[in-house]
Amino acid sequence: MSQVELKPLSDSVGAEVQGVDLSNLDDATFGEVATAFDAHHGLLFRGQDLSPDDLVAFSRRFGDLDHAPIMENGKTAVAGYPEIYIVSNIKDGDGKAIGSLGAGEAVWHTDMSYLDNPPDISMLYALEVPPAGGDTSLCSMASAHDELPAHLREKVTGLSIKHDGTFNSGGFLRQGVREDSDPMTCEGQPHPVICAHPRTGRPVLYLGRRRNAYVMGLERQESEDLLDALWEFATLSEYTFTHQWRVGDLLMWDNRATMHRREPFDADARRLMQRTQIKGGSQPRPVA
Ligand code: SIN
Repeated sequence: MSQVELKPLSDSVGAEVQGVDLSNLDDATFGEVATAFDAHHGLLFRGQDLSPDDLVAFSRRFGDLDHAPIMENGKTAVAGYPEIYIVSNIKDGDGKAIGSLGAGEAVWHTDMSYLDNPPDISMLYALEVPPAGGDTSLCSMASAHDELPAHLREKVTGLSIKHDGTFNSGGFLRQGVREDSDPMTCEGQPHPVICAHPRTGRPVLYLGRRRNAYVMGLERQESEDLLDALWEFATLSEYTFTHQWRVGDLLMWDNRATMHRREPFDADARRLMQRTQIKGGSQPRPVA
């Protein structure tokens, strides 16, 4: 008899999975977790006690892992764990940040959508959390697609958006990239506005991030107006869920079907998260 219990976190995205120890997951239980992930696009597991090896081993069950991108401090990853990226405002003895994103807001985005083949899944595991703030929200791009008003659907059908590779979601310039705040000229990768989820075929909106985005082929202002309308609609509260962290929480989300954001918190408080990413299995593809 299965020990897994699922509790939806909102009407549109996310479920909490109870009765599971991620450091010791048999194949049948993993199968239930994977099925729940396809249905809810975001899963929360509370009260976990994961070593870096446990986190990497659980992440790998969903596919090959990306090596962590270069962090804002110029370092690549956790020593000995090239797959683990540190999201943290904590500074080391020399006053250097040990991770990325600081304590400010991380605006709505999909991880690394500026790549040709963006990561499929991200996992965030909480080791230290501030007493207030730093909440992470998910937004269902499947629900946003399904409810998209007809006039917007008509406008975006067949179009692609260029996803900016210049700035990260904290507003920091990515390592090794030329600063460019012009959506027409910045470095980035175009993807269809409406994609088919590669596992389920479900249509999803694929917006990536707002800053420096550009709807390919449109006049600059036409692109800005269309993007503003899409973003205003897609991030309505009915499509979102906000998670307040506790130490030992693992939240995973499907980058193909969600966006996420992080609220700011007191810079003097400590927040330490480890993140892994499952490699993209395919380029975002338009619905047939
Ligand atoms: C991220 O955007 O990948 C990190 C989100 C968070 O720190 O909650």
